[in-house]
Amino acid sequence: MSGVRIERLKDLDQETLEKLVEIYMRGYEGMREYGGEGEGYAKRYLRWCWSKAKDGFFVARIGDEIVGFIVCDRDWYSRYEGRKVGAIHEFVVDKKFQGHGIGHMLMEKCLEYLRKHNDRIELWVGEKNYNAMKFYGEYLFRRVNRSGIWVRMVRDLRKDDKGKG
Ligand code: ACO
Repeated sequence: MSGVRIERLKDLDQETLEKLVEIYMRGYEGMREYGGEGEGYAKRYLRWCWSKAKDGFFVARIGDEIVGFIVCDRDWYSRYEGRKVGAIHEFVVDKKFQGHGIGHMLMEKCLEYLRKHNDRIELWVGEKNYNAMKFYGEYLFRRVNRSGIWVRMVRDLRKDDKGKG
């Protein structure tokens, strides 16, 4: 898709937050169990994301419009690893723009950023979110644990340096 720019989010003002909530709600349509309990939850969660990862909050824009985002935390303490790793807290492309390569552009940016600070990245994905798991698999994330309805996936950046991204 042409005309897509990936940029670091400068400020999470009210208007931007509302736009991101809309994208989040639409992105998880049909997968409500993985997208929280509604808009109130989404707002709190996205504010939390912003507080954790201001440097790694990237948005995809077409013109002035935000059409997707990825939240990359370079300073995440993983209880499972017992140390700090990189983490992808959230990754969504607006429903009507999915499947056009915007997710790939956001992921490339995320890997470029986290690679500078981390040797490993973890993320959690819904157990039946097969599209996203396939996507992550292409970027050499491996399934390593489960907790309830969530699957933890990790990518080792040192070992897998020849991988996509
Ligand atoms: N429609 C089409 N293709 C999809 C979709 C979808 N809904 N979801 C994933 N894919 C796969 C395709 O198989 C395709 O593979 P290919 O590159 O081999 O052809 C690829 O992903 C599509 O790539 P993009 O077009 O670059 O990805 P997209 O812009 O659709 O973004 C994303 C991928 C972010 C997973 C998006 O589909 C989405 O927002 N999904 C809903 C929210 C979600 O599940 N987020 C991840 C949760 S886990 C977490 O946040 C840590």
